[in-house]
Amino acid sequence: MKRRTDKQTTRLDAHVFVCVNERDSEYACCAEAGGEETAAAVKTWLRERDAFWSPVGVSTTDCLGLCSEAGTAITIQPHNEWFAEVRPDDVDDLMSEAFGPGADRI
Ligand code: FES
Repeated sequence: MKRRTDKQTTRLDAHVFVCVNERDSEYACCAEAGGEETAAAVKTWLRERDAFWSPVGVSTTDCLGLCSEAGTAITIQPHNEWFAEVRPDDVDDLMSEAFGPGADRI
């Protein structure tokens, strides 16, 4: 193991985690609720504002414990914001509320 904290040059203001978890069972999962499409919408929103990865990171993730067939789960850290049932059409409102309409609050 190597600690690389001092070598890491990326200085993220926040990191958006979008659940794309797949589940082979009767229970709802974000993969079937548009997770990949929602993650793509988050990335596009940031790219359009020149804020993708620097200063806001985006990662897809496994279950965040907010499973619903109505949409995807998202958390924004370290802001400690959590969202359930997010659809791609909700991303503009969610991101604008979190970072400002032009990503001006980052
Ligand atoms: S499967 Fe996405 S929050 Fe559980």
